[in-house]
Amino acid sequence: MLKKLMKKLVGTKEVTTSKQSLAEIKQGPIPEHVAIIMDGNGRWAKQRGLPRTAGHQSGVESLKEIVECSAKIGIDYITAYTFSTENWKRPQKEVNFLMKLFQQVFEKELDRFNQQGVKVNIIGYKDRLPDSVRKMAEEVMEITADNQTITVNIALDYGGRAEIIEMAKGIAAKVKAEQLSLEEIDESQVAAELYTANQPDPALLIRPGGEERISNFLLWQIAYAELYFSQTCWPDFTAETFIEAIAEFQSRERRFGGLKKGRC
Ligand code: FPP
Repeated sequence: MLKKLMKKLVGTKEVTTSKQSLAEIKQGPIPEHVAIIMDGNGRWAKQRGLPRTAGHQSGVESLKEIVECSAKIGIDYITAYTFSTENWKRPQKEVNFLMKLFQQVFEKELDRFNQQGVKVNIIGYKDRLPDSVRKMAEEVMEITADNQTITVNIALDYGGRAEIIEMAKGIAAKVKAEQLSLEEIDESQVAAELYTANQPDPALLIRPGGEERISNFLLWQIAYAELYFSQTCWPDFTAETFIEAIAEFQSRERRFGGLKKGRC
């Protein structure tokens, strides 16, 4: 009910959530890039006597709502953790369900992505995905490549350490080919070899579901991200809860290793 209500409300400027209005939020600093660990799907389902898979299914709806809301408030990039390099250890039935779900979402939502100007970028080891998922992932990336409202990175078979290994290989290959010298290796060279090349680092990382850890997500990129943990399970995460997270972000002072203004 609340989700439906918010869906109607987020489109209009004057509307207020319980704590913050969208108009107010838009006046403060908007993070260019928000990373999300979509946790708590299984527990959400269990609390309702449903199979874990129902939690994942419902989690897709939350992501759609948050992407729509993000585009409205001017966020340029969302990175959503959908499947980690460690998630292959889950029961085969759940892995199969998730793979099928990814494929279905890419297929079913393609028109909506284009209507909303969503560029989909799938990041992670694509070569370990089932052929049908990989093909659909490649298709969705190709078809949405020119969309400009918001970029959604779908982290699929993604691991932060794996990404760092790939980055190291990329740098080593450039050095070996004499395209890069050891002295030239710096932060910008490293960033250019990551899946998120040419994107700003996430300024905010949101993890719902009650756990407070990073779980191998965007290890390099979140060096200075503000961390926002919430007890709400991901399927219950609405535009309203998202706006609360942005409001909390706006209340934080980001110093990037410097000192507080006016402090000596
Ligand atoms: C973590 O919750 C969630 C996942 C491993 C899957 C997330 C995937 C989706 C929401 C589908 C999104 C799909 C697309 C294509 C965007 P958990 O299962 O670990 O929950 P628990 O900690 O309560 O067990």
